[in-house]
Amino acid sequence: MTRDSRYDILFEPVKIGPVTARNRFYQAPHCNGMGRTFPSSMAAMRGVKAEGGWAVVSTEQIDIHPTSDITPSTEGRLWSDKDIPYLARMCDAVHEHGALASIEPVHNGKWAANLYSREVPLFPTHMPASDANYPLQARAMNKADIRAFRRWHLDAVMRAKKAGFDIICCYAGHNLSLAGMFMMNRYNFRSDEYGGSLENRVRLFREIIEDTKNAVGDSMGVAVRFSVDELRGAEGLEADKEGREIVEMLAELPDLWDVNISEWHNDSQTSRFAAEGYQEPFIDFVKQVTSKPVVAVGRYTTPDRMVSIIEKGIVDMIGAARPSIADPFLPKKIEEGRIDDIRECIGCNICVAWDNMKAPMRCTQNPTNGEEWRRGWHPDRISKRTDDGAVLVVGAGPAGLEAALAAGQRGHDVILAEATDELGGRVSRESRLPGLATWARVRDYRAYQISQMANVVVYLSSALSVEQILEHGSAHVAIATGARWRSDGYGRQHQFPIAGIAGSNLFTPDDIMSGNRPGGNVLVYDDDHYYMGSVMAEQLVADGCRVTLATPHAVVASWTNYTLEQHRIQARLLELGVEVIASHALQEINTLDVTLACVYSGQPRLVDASSVVMVTSRLPEDAAYQELAADKQRLSDSGIVTLKQIGDCHGPATIAAAVYEGHRFARELGEEVSEIPYRRELTELADAFKLP
Ligand SMILES: Cc1cc2nc3c(=O)[nH]c(=O)nc-3n(C[C@H](O)[C@H](O)[C@H](O)COP(=O)(O)O)c2cc1C
Ligand code: SF4
Repeated sequence: MTRDSRYDILFEPVKIGPVTARNRFYQAPHCNGMGRTFPSSMAAMRGVKAEGGWAVVSTEQIDIHPTSDITPSTEGRLWSDKDIPYLARMCDAVHEHGALASIEPVHNGKWAANLYSREVPLFPTHMPASDANYPLQARAMNKADIRAFRRWHLDAVMRAKKAGFDIICCYAGHNLSLAGMFMMNRYNFRSDEYGGSLENRVRLFREIIEDTKNAVGDSMGVAVRFSVDELRGAEGLEADKEGREIVEMLAELPDLWDVNISEWHNDSQTSRFAAEGYQEPFIDFVKQVTSKPVVAVGRYTTPDRMVSIIEKGIVDMIGAARPSIADPFLPKKIEEGRIDDIRECIGCNICVAWDNMKAPMRCTQNPTNGEEWRRGWHPDRISKRTDDGAVLVVGAGPAGLEAALAAGQRGHDVILAEATDELGGRVSRESRLPGLATWARVRDYRAYQISQMANVVVYLSSALSVEQILEHGSAHVAIATGARWRSDGYGRQHQFPIAGIAGSNLFTPDDIMSGNRPGGNVLVYDDDHYYMGSVMAEQLVADGCRVTLATPHAVVASWTNYTLEQHRIQARLLELGVEVIASHALQEINTLDVTLACVYSGQPRLVDASSVVMVTSRLPEDAAYQELAADKQRLSDSGIVTLKQIGDCHGPATIAAAVYEGHRFARELGEEVSEIPYRRELTELADAFKLP
């Protein structure tokens, strides 16, 4: 295939000071939960992006000093020369594929609680340390501290140079960088030359950029990452006020401007709350005030949109974090005219959640993310099959679709049998709920790929019995029949029957999604704590119900703190008029009302509701699997070599987990798989134990 000439502009080189990016694709800095703790995994993940065509591949934030220690997060670190080798490994992986490696050194200021280093956090002013409300305060920096900070930053720059980086990114974004914190009126109460006027508050950032430029000379590009608006009105930076003035003040100083909005929950917004290009209204002034190249982000996955913002003069380079995670080969696919092969980010922020949980990042769309090194999984290549057994996949939800696709790519003949008349399973059902339409990309990408493969045949409206599965004659069988929501209230809070539940007007999310819906006053009981309870409430409001949402947790959808959505979800429900009752468990259901009980005091509370939607937990639909697995002889008589349950039918979880299980099924077909099926990064103590 050849590239559509409309996209030629995306492949023009861009000069970033003394270095040149081969095209306009800029992988913006993103943490990954691997960082310095799993450095080989991190380096391989970055290398794959370079291979996939990104011209600039950035690190995550790299903390530069023991006073900027964000333990237990597993981001990058550059405290001494000892930290150089793992970053050099990343540079090598990036350079191997012709991309530029960029590094984002940071001092986290009051964000760093210094749990490992035990240093007192640093800040422009005395202020409580912010991350996780640790009971400690940051101290106001004196002049010696400021001089020391400049030296630490410079040391990090020189070490980055030694490691082989091509670009240094000076960071004042996300309310996570000390130099940025100095700029804020609400933080900086200093009376010296670093406080007061805007020029004074920006002084430290200017010095950092100048120090960096003087140190690297013509050997590296110097970028700036700056959040022009914090979306908190006059309390914070605003794009039409100080945000703009700061860009004007520093306009020609760096070699490149990477601009966005702050804080992280505004920058990495999910598709439930923001569409592609959501940052443009804030950053579109930047190119008017600088002659330097400008990068911006905003979940860009469509080449037409990318071309349009370049042609409109909004940016010079397309910045992307999540689109590069979901499809590291996005630039290559555009370059090769493979637009329909792009695995578009769905904007779910599972990647963010895993990083926030201090675990290696996972991606809903890209099951190979984080597996590049430890399992050798490549996002655009898969090994050929090792046997010629046919594959039968029962169920075409996210697990089944991915299993069929990946097994087909390995060269197996695949039958994908789906009981209903549409592909996608839970993804199709959920994507029809308010705010979740973009999630259908999980289905659409796979359905399209499969439709192009002669060796994968799909049968809709084909519920297979156990007998039919046995008679089918496939050597490899994956059962991907999903899960169903429980109506009995059993979940995290209740492991006992709820009074009056028998005969009550009960509904589950499955009912709502299939159109069986209550009217009047409805209680949504959310003991699941992810998105489903809140989405049910939104749907029922749209249907004209009066909705109360009760949860045993202190806030609505508490787990969505990890996906950066909790605040927005609760605000949306309140705006829609949903009555939110937090910290209450279901106690009794009557015909016309429901009794809740405070989880702390036990104090009862009556809610006027004649129906309850239970969002508590799910049960696997695994009857077929259990029956098949119970009779090994029958299996072998039928020629079945592999029988696996995958996805929600194995263990109800996220869509990301289902896609991964489907992919894993296909990758492991005919392969020797050990009990720990991946390489681990262990601290080398071999010498101490005299191991080989
Ligand atoms: C998992 C994840 C981790 C991130 N970590 C960083 C970081 O370390 N430093 C930074 O400047 N931005 C970080 N970001 C923000 C991204 O660079 C980017 O600005 C934001 O995600 C919006 O771009 P996108 O829509 O292309 O994802 C992170 C984003 C994600 C998704
Ligand atoms: S996890 Fe979701 S938001 Fe993150 S890159 Fe993958 S699809 Fe996009």
